[in-house]
Amino acid sequence: MSTLDRPEIRFRRRRDDVTLSWPPGSKFRFPEPFLWGAASASHQVEGEDVHSDWWRYEREPGNVQNFFEFPEFGQQFKSDHWRQFPEDIVRMKADLGLNAYRFSLDWSRIEPVEGQWDEAVIDRYVSLCGQMRELGIRPLVTLFHWSSPDWIWEPGNEESSGWYHPSIVDRFGAFCERVVQSLAKVVDLWVTFNEPNVFLYGGFSEGVLAPGHCRPDRELLPIQRHLLLCHRNAYRTIHESRDGAQVGIAQQITPFEPVSRWNPLEGWLSARVEQAFSWAFGDSIHTGELVLPTRSGAVIREQIEGLSGTVDFSGVNYYERMLLRIPWGVCVQRVEAIHDHFGTKEIWPREINTRAFVEILERVQSRYGLPIYVTENGRSHSDDSQRQRFLEQHLCALGHALENLDVDVRGYFYWSLLDNQEWANGFTPRLGLYEVDYSDGSRSLRDTGRRYAEIIQSGEICADSLI
Ligand code: FCB
Repeated sequence: MSTLDRPEIRFRRRRDDVTLSWPPGSKFRFPEPFLWGAASASHQVEGEDVHSDWWRYEREPGNVQNFFEFPEFGQQFKSDHWRQFPEDIVRMKADLGLNAYRFSLDWSRIEPVEGQWDEAVIDRYVSLCGQMRELGIRPLVTLFHWSSPDWIWEPGNEESSGWYHPSIVDRFGAFCERVVQSLAKVVDLWVTFNEPNVFLYGGFSEGVLAPGHCRPDRELLPIQRHLLLCHRNAYRTIHESRDGAQVGIAQQITPFEPVSRWNPLEGWLSARVEQAFSWAFGDSIHTGELVLPTRSGAVIREQIEGLSGTVDFSGVNYYERMLLRIPWGVCVQRVEAIHDHFGTKEIWPREINTRAFVEILERVQSRYGLPIYVTENGRSHSDDSQRQRFLEQHLCALGHALENLDVDVRGYFYWSLLDNQEWANGFTPRLGLYEVDYSDGSRSLRDTGRRYAEIIQSGEICADSLI
């Protein structure tokens, strides 16, 4: 076992010890330059991605909560970002003062049929990035944020095609080469994959994201291998096209903590689950070794040639911690991860936990030693003052970490710019800085957005505003 994949065993402190607090008058100033951004993903906001697997998947009853109860406009155009993209860029500058925007390319729009490129779509993405640059907004482009062209899946043979099949490596490679060749002149900051861990487990083990499969752990091996190979090749393609480009992965790094600090078995299991879910992918990029832990206890390992070191920064998506419990019983048959992810999600995450956020930043820094971008962080709440509180608390914690702890965080991307379709949870969760009216695509800036703009403008945050 390498030092990287040895789980760190931590015990939960106090039950109420979730948010850091600061003495009145504390002020934290952000370093300059600092990227102030918001994030989005093509499928969740663009609309009319009719050639994507998600477009088909969400129309199959039962896959997306309340999908058909939302207005047809929303089902078709989502947050109408594809059509309103230029206006949204103007808005993010004028209303929010952002100097960075993270968004993902829609592979299925760019290559609707295998090998056929829609040049007009590629040109549009290039011109949107050019528009951002002119306004002083640095584009951070995600190559893959969970939706694939539907043609990668063979009808009737889904479980042996698409991401299961080695052909995905060349198919994704061709897509990367085509888009990077055009976009490298206007984009120097890239994320290859968004949350490969959530894509892997959500799509192929838990069956809650497209393609919705529930396969045993061992059978996740080819998918994990293909994700790593696709990442490695994309990293090379980007660096060959642009000197000085920065390439990373946006990892969802969720801390798992035992419900009872008196139960060493819960502590041990939390550490193992956290290692498997939150760290395995990132560690592989550093060591060059694929590690797939399985629930049976066996760990599958495989060397991936040329993988080690193919990352220039750590992208951290942080929302919440998870509590892990072993239900009482004669013997341990299952463990429960307690969270609200698959509940109504109207209020998600339920708690504000900045202590775990800071710990994650410190651990990512010491583990990988690279600059960090917080590539996602945000909250859905029916009461906007709660969303605002979440943002302020996390920015305060980040300011504190930058001033007082040894973390090299270079930017923060709030999730999300717009309300959007929260994958299988549909349109009910609302995480946007802008509220979107799904009956006509109109936007209105929330107070959280106004507050974010003030913080960006002043470059500092005062802890008093939280009291
Ligand atoms: C993350 C996803 C993102 C969005 C947020 C709320 O796990 O990367 O697309 O759904 O959660």
